[in-house]
Amino acid sequence: MKVLIVGSGGREHALAWRLDREGVDVVVAPGNGGTPHTAAIASTDVEALARLARQERVDLTIVGPEAPLAAGLVDTFAEQGLKAFGPTRMAARLEWSKAWTKAFLTRHGIPTAGAEVVESEPAARRAIARLGLPIVLKADGLASGKGVFVATSEMEVDAAFDQLFRRKTLGAAADQVLLEEYLEGPELSLLAFTDGERLGMMPAARDYKRLLDGDRGPNTGGMGGYTRPSYASAALLAEVEQRILLPALVGMQAEGEPYRGVLYAGLMLTRAGPKVLEFNCRFGDPECQLILPLLSSRLLDVCQAVVEGRLTPTELAWTDDRAYGVVLAARGYPEAAETGQVVTGTDALPPGILAFHGATRRDGDRLVTSGGRVLTLVGSQRQAMYDAADTIRFAGKQARRDIGLELASGVVAAP
Ligand code: AMP
Ligand code: GLY
Repeated sequence: MKVLIVGSGGREHALAWRLDREGVDVVVAPGNGGTPHTAAIASTDVEALARLARQERVDLTIVGPEAPLAAGLVDTFAEQGLKAFGPTRMAARLEWSKAWTKAFLTRHGIPTAGAEVVESEPAARRAIARLGLPIVLKADGLASGKGVFVATSEMEVDAAFDQLFRRKTLGAAADQVLLEEYLEGPELSLLAFTDGERLGMMPAARDYKRLLDGDRGPNTGGMGGYTRPSYASAALLAEVEQRILLPALVGMQAEGEPYRGVLYAGLMLTRAGPKVLEFNCRFGDPECQLILPLLSSRLLDVCQAVVEGRLTPTELAWTDDRAYGVVLAARGYPEAAETGQVVTGTDALPPGILAFHGATRRDGDRLVTSGGRVLTLVGSQRQAMYDAADTIRFAGKQARRDIGLELASGVVAAP
């Protein structure tokens, strides 16, 4: 059995690690310094990836990031008789258009923050004068975590306008901008496998999006996380499944775009109940690195069942462990990450600790940094995970120290 994994981050390393342990022959495109067998093809070069899948006689392709899904990888592969795990381009719209998704959620009565869509700075200004502060401004399209601005002051609104409308740093992704009601509460990531009809829920996770301890500093792709936060009760998870994830699946099917793959709900647990902040159409990074080590079923079997439309949620089994993960990031991340620093310590980790490579590459027999989120260290105990993270060295390393410290990072008790 041969699987092609598309992508180059910690998420893709975790997928490759897991399938390799299941005895699957894995190739990762383009991969990184931690993934064993790589092919130098960009993750959005769909035609070249399809050629590779044929040449290498790949049985299944698993797509890590959102960009290839938005580019229609799954559609192109299907046209060529190749199996790929993930939603079609139109189903992936749940991630690549926040304006469309907001209307979809409203059509189907799924709880989310109220929002208006605007297309210019004057329109945004008029709407904000009416709606008041704080307010959240969101670019409609894909922006790698850089498209959301929480504004509590006129100055912050102006800074967001500058990027969205004047300097257009996000390009066409900000042709439409959502002005969204500001919500408060603990955040939760809830992911599920789905074959379009059934949901196989994964353990809930908390992601830390801000760079610095105490949820300060700029938003990032994610600085770490842990699974099964105590505020995510079984009743709450059942409520999210019934009121959010299932209606979304039913809605996609009713609209003629059945959704298959991983559906990821980013939620705010407000006093008025859980509300959708965003959907992602794929595994989260770093959530994937935390969740996969807890899976007792074979990942390959689950992915094949999803692709073939025969998922049996009762056969999806998890260990009772928790997982804690911290991202070791490069100096300058998230604005401009420094690269080329030598990394040491990854080959001398204690048992039970996993090091997933995000932005590394091999340079002869050295391992060097190649981007922002260099490694994710994962373990089932918080202190052991941090002790191991401290033994990894590279110049400029930055990491949050408060991952998994419940109540210490702005997370208040569940409403
Ligand atoms: P998103 O990419 O939509 O998940 O947004 C990134 C981060 O911005 C989230 O993790 C939240 O911390 C914050 N955020 C997004 N939407 C809202 C909202 N409506 N109210 C308050 N904070 C938000
Ligand atoms: N951890 C957030 C994401 O993958 O989008």
